Order: sequence, then structure tokens, then C-alpha cells
Amino acid sequence: MMMMKVESRIANKTFTVGIIGLGYVGLPLLNTFHKAGFPVIGFDTDEEKIKSIHKGKSYIKHFSDEDIEKLSDSDQCKVTKDFKLLEEVDAVLICVPTPLDHHREPDMTYVEETAKTISLYLKKGQLVVLESTTWPGTSDELLTQILEDGSGLKAGSDFYIAYSPEREDPGNSEFDTKSIPKLVGASVYEAREIAVALYSSSIDTVIPVSSSKVAESAKLLENIFRSVNIALVNEMKQVMDAMGIDIHEVVDAAATKPFGFMKFTPGPGLGGHCIPIDPYYLTWKAKEFGLNTRFIELAGEVNNAMPQFVIDKLILALNGYSKSVKGSKILVLGVAYKKDVDDMRESPSFVIMDKLVKLGAIIDYYDPWIPEIPATREHMNWKGVKSIEWEKENIESYDSILIITDHTEINYNELLIWSNCIVDSRNVYSYLRDEEKKKVFKA
Ligand SMILES: NC(=O)c1ccc[n+]([C@@H]2O[C@H](COP(=O)([O-])OP(=O)(O)OC[C@H]3O[C@@H](n4cnc5c(N)ncnc54)[C@H](O)[C@@H]3O)[C@@H](O)[C@H]2O)c1
Repeated sequence: MMMMKVESRIANKTFTVGIIGLGYVGLPLLNTFHKAGFPVIGFDTDEEKIKSIHKGKSYIKHFSDEDIEKLSDSDQCKVTKDFKLLEEVDAVLICVPTPLDHHREPDMTYVEETAKTISLYLKKGQLVVLESTTWPGTSDELLTQILEDGSGLKAGSDFYIAYSPEREDPGNSEFDTKSIPKLVGASVYEAREIAVALYSSSIDTVIPVSSSKVAESAKLLENIFRSVNIALVNEMKQVMDAMGIDIHEVVDAAATKPFGFMKFTPGPGLGGHCIPIDPYYLTWKAKEFGLNTRFIELAGEVNNAMPQFVIDKLILALNGYSKSVKGSKILVLGVAYKKDVDDMRESPSFVIMDKLVKLGAIIDYYDPWIPEIPATREHMNWKGVKSIEWEKENIESYDSILIITDHTEINYNELLIWSNCIVDSRNVYSYLRDEEKKKVFKA
């Protein structure tokens, strides 16, 4: 009976959806449910984000001001840092960060704080869905415990818990929140049915799985798969380099096989909020069962060594001009962790810049997506540093240009004319004339 009532409220869009955490994941999700016709309430502790939405200004570059205006102008959408409004929502979707702490162990502070806050306002019949990437068991163990303790209500009968991993890929023009298939798992049948009904109303393809733990583990597998395969091509890159073989050509050649091979591209090291972090959530949980995650550790080791590989190539490149790193002016091209995004979390650029500064280099950066380095949890030493302007005299003044992020809008032809020493960690220059080859050093 209860189920039928909820399903009909979802079907006629009188079901209010709350989203906690309006970052790279939460903001597009809020937009997706709003576009589908649901009343939505977005919550964030960051007042700047709330103010920005109220002003119709986007704080995520690939999310336009027009998209934000549609939210700020709508009487179907509220954004707030007043968590009392949680009383008005029928479902609350949690999209807060899940980073690692200084010991590379899961930092669950954001999820815990959010769960405590929700528990203060939790009411009967509400659905709580965790979307943040996390270790298997978080929803059934940690989240359930905090919500039950704080509210005095019982999960599975008074209120419902589900897990639905976010697969957002910022900057990917082929897939958005609506078109990326969504896994939904819950340990209680009714919880899963409500969550599936809710997501199915706004997202093209919803795949139910038998428990939250399966959904949590599937998300980790997806990212571990990426980390391990990136490590494989990064290791292969070092071997091919020693043999004088172009790894990129090798990868492209292998990728012509129409089955049994998936293309991964080597680079300067892992970046972003997911791939360098998420695998260690499983490593941590596996220890509870006396197990080691050797593939994850090995992949981490190989990938974490890539910034040094790039630096070694820079040293060799400068050597060719009888220059040392110490005292050389180096321009780092791109501080975003991947091309065409304004997200610099875990970017290998910072590891490289820190190491080069230690070696006595003078470092500037150019990044059309990040005009100024904002305050972040890490890399506070770079806060407030501004991108240089893309001008001939500026570019010519550097001893070497180090390409770390291959943003599309950079004029690489101009760069090839303006600089005599380019270290290319992204295979931007795949085909060069013989005289051009002398100035480009593959890293
Ligand atoms: N960014 C991605 O591409 C991506 C993709 C898939 C999954 N994920 C996962 O999604 C989750 C969120 O990632 P993100 O990239 O959107 O992070 P983000 O840092 O961009 O956004 C998180 C937001 O949560 C807010 N916040 C923090 N604590 C809060 C609290 N107690 N109450 C309310 N708001 C709070 C922050 O102010 C921020 O706006 C993480 O678990 C991440 O692993 C991210």
C-alpha cells in the first residue's frame, strides 16, 4: 500500500528530491531531477556555492550559467545551507566527498557529518540514498547506524536506505547524468523498489542489484579496473621508451583488434577525485578480512612513479641544451587533472611542480580552464597563483614547456613555433617533421 502511494507520487512528480553536496556530482544530479519535473532542494555547507546558484552563476565550467539560471529562476528548485528543509524532502541523495586521509585511508568525515545532520530531521517513509564512492558495507553499516542512532527510527521499516553509485564523467560530451546507466542496490526489497522507481523517472537506464554492497563494490571495481589498466600501459610506456618504440603507436595498433582489448592511454600519472583514491577504499576494507589487494597496490606504485618519469625526461631535455633544472624557467601546461575540465584535484601537475621547485626550477603554469589556483584541501602552497597569458614573448621566455594536460583549445602549432624545448607527456605531437622532432621530447 505504502509502496503504491510512493510510486504514484513519483509518477506524478509530487515527490520532493533533496540533494546534499552540490559539487561536480550533486549539481548535475539536481539539474537532472529538476529537468524531469520534480521539486528539488539542494543542500551544501559551502555558502559560496549557494550564493553562486542564487545569482545564476555557474562554478563548474562545463555547466553553463543558463543551466544555473533555470534552477535559480524556478519555483520548483531551492538551494540552501539550512538543513531544516530536509523535513520537506521525500528522498535525500548524498553526494559529498569521500577522500583519503594523510595515511591514505578512507576519510568518512563528510559522509558521517551528513548522516548525523539527516538523522536530526529524518521522518517516516523517507528514502536516503548514498551516491558517494565508498567501501562495501558503508550504507548497511555506517550510514544505517548513524541514521538509526540519531533519529530513533528503524531502517527498512520506518525509513529506507539505498546505494546508487555516481558515474558522472565531467567533460564527457557523449554521456551525461541522464544517459549514464545507474546501478541501484538496497538490502531491503521495498527500499530498492522506491529507489529504482525514483531514478527510473529521471534516468534513462536503471539497473537494480541485490544489495547496497554489490552496488558499492561494482563502483569500486569500475575504478580499480581503470587504475590497473592505466598502470599497465604506463609500465609498458617505460619499457617501450627504453626500447625506442612509441607506446602510443603500439596502443593504437593493439586497439584495432575489435574484441578482447580495451584502449587505455599512458600519461603523466593519475589525477581526479576518483581513480587515484577509490581503489584504496577497497584496500582498507579488505584488511578487515585479512586480505591484501595486490593489484591495487601495484597499480598505485606504477602510476605514482609516472611524475618522476616525466621529470627525468625534462632533465634529459634540458641537458641537451646544457641546462640544469636548477635555475631553469619551466612552464607547466595544464594543471587540470584531465583535458577540458576545470577540476585539479589530485592532478599530477602539482606533484611535478612541487618536485621541480625543490630542484630549484622557476615554475609558472598556463591553463585556460584554471585562470587562478583556488584553495584546495592539498597544494595550498599554490593557492592564488595565476595562469600566465598565452603570448609569444611569454612562451619564448621559458627554457622548457612541460605538457601535462592536453586541453583542446591550446594552440599546439603556435607552441611548436614559439618553443625549442617541449616535453610532451600526452602525445600531443604524434606526427612531426624531422626538424620539429628535435624540439619535442616524449615523456
Ligand atoms: N567528480 C567526479 O567525477 C565523480 C564521479 C563519480 C563519483 N564521484 C564521487 O561522488 C562524490 C562527490 O564527488 P564530487 O566530485 O561531486 O565532490 P565535490 O567536492 O565537487 O562536491 C562535494 C560537495 O559537497 C559539499 N559538502 C561537503 N560536506 C558537506 C556536508 N556535510 N553537507 C553538505 N554539503 C557538504 C561540498 O561543499 C561540495 O560542494 C565522491 O564520493 C566522489 O568519489 C565523483
